[in-house]
Amino acid sequence: MGNILMIASQKGGVGKTTVAFNMAYSLGKMGNSVLLVDGDPQGGVANASNLKDRTALGILDIITGKCTPEEAVQTTRDGSMSVLGVGELSTSDIFLLEDKARNGELGAIIKEFAGKYQYVIIDTPAGVGTLVSSLMQISNDLILVINCKTFSLRSLPIFLRTIKEIKDNHNDDLDLNGVIINMFRSESEYEKNILEQIKKVFPREVFYNTIIPNSDYFEKASMYSVPVSMMPQGNIASKPFIELALELKERETKNITGETDEDPSMGLF
Ligand SMILES: Nc1ncnc2c1ncn2[C@@H]1O[C@H](COP(=O)(O)OP(=O)(O)OP(=O)(O)O)[C@@H](O)[C@H]1O
Ligand SMILES: [Mg+2]
Repeated sequence: MGNILMIASQKGGVGKTTVAFNMAYSLGKMGNSVLLVDGDPQGGVANASNLKDRTALGILDIITGKCTPEEAVQTTRDGSMSVLGVGELSTSDIFLLEDKARNGELGAIIKEFAGKYQYVIIDTPAGVGTLVSSLMQISNDLILVINCKTFSLRSLPIFLRTIKEIKDNHNDDLDLNGVIINMFRSESEYEKNILEQIKKVFPREVFYNTIIPNSDYFEKASMYSVPVSMMPQGNIASKPFIELALELKERETKNITGETDEDPSMGLF
């Protein structure tokens, strides 16, 4: 596994930003050097209130030469992780960013950072627009976040086809790292049913064992823009994200030692 990992989904609001933010933070807390990249112009990851010396500078400012890459990077107060925002963008800036994504400049900036961190984790917008497909072209791994809702199930094949298309035509290094199930209501028969159906679509090893439950607690942490573990009683609530970070490391070790010789997406297409 390379070190550029994007968190993606076909559908909006499934928890990509929550997973990216908290998983990156957990990896950082474990002593890894981590850069969380906000690849979503509407994502707001860089507004997280626990950042030291906040700056409005971001990726687009680096591309347009307004600042150096170092000037755009912020660090959490506790020093656990670094964050690269997208910048404060007007509508025309968003179009410009998309142009820069299309011509490869956005990807080149992120790749530059990859050499400086153990993990570069990218939060992305929903679907497969210009930004997401350009990020797929420079990522090594992709984590798919889903909810157990009918729509998630229906939209999965399109998304998987896109990953496969990018892998075949633009980026042979791109692998589906795994699928994370978020906002699971274990008391709901309906969701349990959907989970069963989803598990029939994917090979078992694709799934992260840790399923993130639906909890207002996560919603509250997002509201304050802090990692879950920084909330009162956060140690307990952040457990799923620590487990996800540990699972990510485990998957990486398996790849390095060759225990799994194929990437888990192989059975899917
Ligand atoms: N496990 C959870 N339980 C309850 N609420 C959650 C959970 N995970 C995320 N949320 C909440 O759901 C909302 C959407 O989450 P988030 O912003 O992470 O999704 P997203 O996939 O990044 O959305 P978008 O596609 O708009 O970028 C947020 O208010 C967040 O706090
Ligand atoms: Mg988001």
